[in-house]
Amino acid sequence: MRLTIPDIHLLKKEGKKIAMITAYDSFFSIYAEKAGIDMILVGDSLGMVVQGEENTLGVTMDEMVYHTKIVSRNTQKPFIVADMPFMSYQISTEKAIENAGRLIKEGKAQAVKIEGGADFADVIEKMVRASIPVMGHLGLLPQSINKIGSFKVQGKEYDQAEEIFKSAKALQDAGVFAIVLEAIPYELAKKITEELLVPTIGIGAGPYTDGQVLVVQDMLGMNENFSPKFVKKYLSLEKMAVEAIESYKNEVKNGSFPTLEHSFRSKNKETISLYSFKN
Ligand code: KIV
Repeated sequence: MRLTIPDIHLLKKEGKKIAMITAYDSFFSIYAEKAGIDMILVGDSLGMVVQGEENTLGVTMDEMVYHTKIVSRNTQKPFIVADMPFMSYQISTEKAIENAGRLIKEGKAQAVKIEGGADFADVIEKMVRASIPVMGHLGLLPQSINKIGSFKVQGKEYDQAEEIFKSAKALQDAGVFAIVLEAIPYELAKKITEELLVPTIGIGAGPYTDGQVLVVQDMLGMNENFSPKFVKKYLSLEKMAVEAIESYKNEVKNGSFPTLEHSFRSKNKETISLYSFKN
């Protein structure tokens, strides 16, 4: 049975941490489920970690639906949240509801996530009224990269911290079931977490949020050149993968792969005798 919003809320109530990770394909979804992850985020970060783009802005609704379908098809237990990509919810409430509905109906996500503060309270309220559960996302908003200039910590100064705090309250009032807090000082994340009834999920927001989320490629060390302070690398997968592929290449070149151990045999001597093929 899939986890539900009441299950997620119970974790906060009981002071138990919520573990969330991103996934976009079948194998990583299966690994996440086997590892006992509570929530999977099909993030628009797929633009960067799957498609190799420099930001998330080009990700389309069709791509989000495609990846969400794969993740939901390959899991039974984790609660699945799908990101609403850039310009899928900013144009009009009607468009936002229609697009969010696709992630639920076609992608089979249990909820959608949208980036933005109090300005989006109205659209969130209408989505929730249409029975589409919404996760908020405050702090560093990757879809605002052209406005903010770089992926940097938000809310270090009082005014911006206050704005983020007020937005968290506004999103809760609008009906979000949880809020991602990205790249904000841990003191601010702690204050928001203590004040809100809905769970906070941190990424680069310190240890005091109700849960944590990381991009799976980051925590597995799939990009040696990407080592931000907030990511703990649990594996050096880039190094391991390159070494393995290099060993394969060397063995192909020197003829030590494949051996007969990795080869198929003919059925019997009679079959082999047929190999005196005639044209
Ligand atoms: O798209 C994503 O993976 C996200 C996380 C960084 C929270 O929004």
